[in-house]
Amino acid sequence: MLNRMYRSTVLGVATQKPIEQLVRSRAWNVAQRFVAGESSATAIAAAQELAADGILSNLDLLGEFVNSVETANEFAEKILAIQNEAAAAGVVPYVSIKLSSVGQGQTVQNGEDLGYLNARRIVGNARALGGFVCLDMEDHPRVDQTLAQFRALVAEFGNKTVGTVLQSYLYRSEADRTGLDDLHPNLRIVKGAYLEPESVAMPAKSDVDASYRRLVYAHMKAGNYVNVATHDDSIIDDVKMFVLSHGIPKTQFEFQMLYGIRRDLQKKLATEGFTVRVYLPYGRDWYAYFSRRIAERPANVMFVLRGMLKG
Ligand code: FDA
Repeated sequence: MLNRMYRSTVLGVATQKPIEQLVRSRAWNVAQRFVAGESSATAIAAAQELAADGILSNLDLLGEFVNSVETANEFAEKILAIQNEAAAAGVVPYVSIKLSSVGQGQTVQNGEDLGYLNARRIVGNARALGGFVCLDMEDHPRVDQTLAQFRALVAEFGNKTVGTVLQSYLYRSEADRTGLDDLHPNLRIVKGAYLEPESVAMPAKSDVDASYRRLVYAHMKAGNYVNVATHDDSIIDDVKMFVLSHGIPKTQFEFQMLYGIRRDLQKKLATEGFTVRVYLPYGRDWYAYFSRRIAERPANVMFVLRGMLKG
């Protein structure tokens, strides 16, 4: 409950333009804890640093809810470019995309969805380069379309090149997971980061956590690849026990965390021989992503305020 109130307050305040202007102008030094720079070159350098610690990366150009065809196409071009740059630098071009950033919801002349057309280009490029694309999950009105587009992309490119995300706070996610089983999909399981109404998302953290475990265990038991994307120690410990007791091989799952969060745990898991991948966001449009990270943890507000006061 407190969790929900805190999140809704932070995300509500964050949408106010004067706050956005203030944070954008004063908090870049703080945001850099969560964002790997503004350019693709800094993101690739961060991926190479992680690789030195045995940690894989997932490149994410920041941006979302784009509402012009030109901007969506430009955004897609930038993602195609970083796939190529990463491959040239010897970094596997594993990227995440938000379909809203490449035009989802905008119908183009032939009646097709622009987001889907751009995603096809990006997933096609990933296949050519030996990379991977994960379709991030955004707010709940987009889930149906994202899953339908995911299904079409798997049909064309296969489940080794494209995956997507389910959010354990949504009541619908367990049914969605079962409904995707025929694809043997690569799924990232997360708790969910958006401010959602109680009619669609569980308000209590204990329910979200229980649903998280159920989703991970069910997907593993069905023999599918799971990206266990959380920083939650108790869930990570339980997953380790689950895989041991059910004979799930280390090649069937990986742990994923966000850049700048629980770096100690990322290194520890990698040292223990688990596959660990860090989500590496970069780009100039860092504000919405940064606001969601602050909304996840009350201590982060103090961290931001201290950083802004330091200048
Ligand atoms: P929880 O919030 O319970 O936190 C557990 C512990 O982790 C905390 O006690 C703290 O130690 C640490 N922690 C968590 N968040 C922190 C923060 N911001 N700052 C500092 N410490 C923090 N969401 C979504 O809706 N769609 C998506 O596509 C994705 N994609 C995605 C990819 C990856 C790789 C990750 C790790 C997460 C996402 N998310 C996401 C975000 C996700 O939904 C969720 O909001 C965050 O992961 C925080 O939840 P935890 O599972 O870490 O648990």
